[in-house]
Amino acid sequence: MTGSIEPLGPTAAVTRRDVDSGSTVRANRHWWDLDADDYQAEHGEFLGDARFIWSPEGLDEEQAGLLGSVAGRDVLEVGCGAAQCGRWLVAQGARAVAFDLSVNQLRHARRLDERTGLHVPLIQADATRLPFAASSFDIVCSAFGAVPFVTDSAAVMREAARVLRSGGRSVCSVTPPIRSCCPDDPGPEGLIARESYFDRRPYVEEDDSGAATYVEHHRTIGDRVREIVAAGLTLIDIVEPEWPEEHRRVWGQWSPLRGRVIPGTAIFVCENAEQ
Ligand SMILES: C[S@@+](CC[C@H](N)C(=O)[O-])C[C@H]1O[C@@H](n2cnc3c(N)ncnc32)[C@H](O)[C@@H]1O
Repeated sequence: MTGSIEPLGPTAAVTRRDVDSGSTVRANRHWWDLDADDYQAEHGEFLGDARFIWSPEGLDEEQAGLLGSVAGRDVLEVGCGAAQCGRWLVAQGARAVAFDLSVNQLRHARRLDERTGLHVPLIQADATRLPFAASSFDIVCSAFGAVPFVTDSAAVMREAARVLRSGGRSVCSVTPPIRSCCPDDPGPEGLIARESYFDRRPYVEEDDSGAATYVEHHRTIGDRVREIVAAGLTLIDIVEPEWPEEHRRVWGQWSPLRGRVIPGTAIFVCENAEQ
């Protein structure tokens, strides 16, 4: 599935340092293209082919209703991966469009479209520069897509506000800032704060030439609120799903052990002011 994409050498270093926007996009596009098969193999069953799962805690839009009514609405899914959320939206009667930076994630989206018979229009794009006209959508949404992976997340908020119609809703889930203080470890080590919450330098993996191969950007909770407000959006809630007692799944840095102590997800629910 990954075609002619050049493989990554072993990670030579893991560090915190500034990375500009171009290098971040290059690194993450390559990384997600290479990882798409593994990501879908590992998480596909949990995500479902046509479900809208907001978070590793398993919060399902079917119950959460954070988007409000979607039937008949124009909805944009940001950083869609295999567009499982977009397919759920289509099944509910929404006119959904989904985009991602990674062409191999989009290939998985096409595969699931064929398997389910639910077709989501797909576009390859960068969340900081959306190829859509102003006021094109009623809802913009994202389940861990793009926002933690860009240098300029304020630009993602501005783009969401620009493409939203008056009174539209923007909802995105991200890793909560508090998690960047602790190692990405699902075990006890992941409960020990070793880094400063205020260190805004991104988490970076590098190859042996020092080039970034994976970049995850960090913001404090105040930074996120300021980016939302500066974009002209109104923040109406920050949802922090709790880890369900019966949920035993360990997913990367997420686990029942950590989930009982610190939130694994923050979902920012915003509205575009009525004009
Ligand atoms: C953790 S995955 C989430 C995918 C999907 N929403 C899900 O729940 O499975 C993050 C996704 O964000 C995409 N992404 C990263 N940077 C992006 C950017 N600048 N613009 C658009 N998508 C981006 C990645 O390619 C990847 O598919």
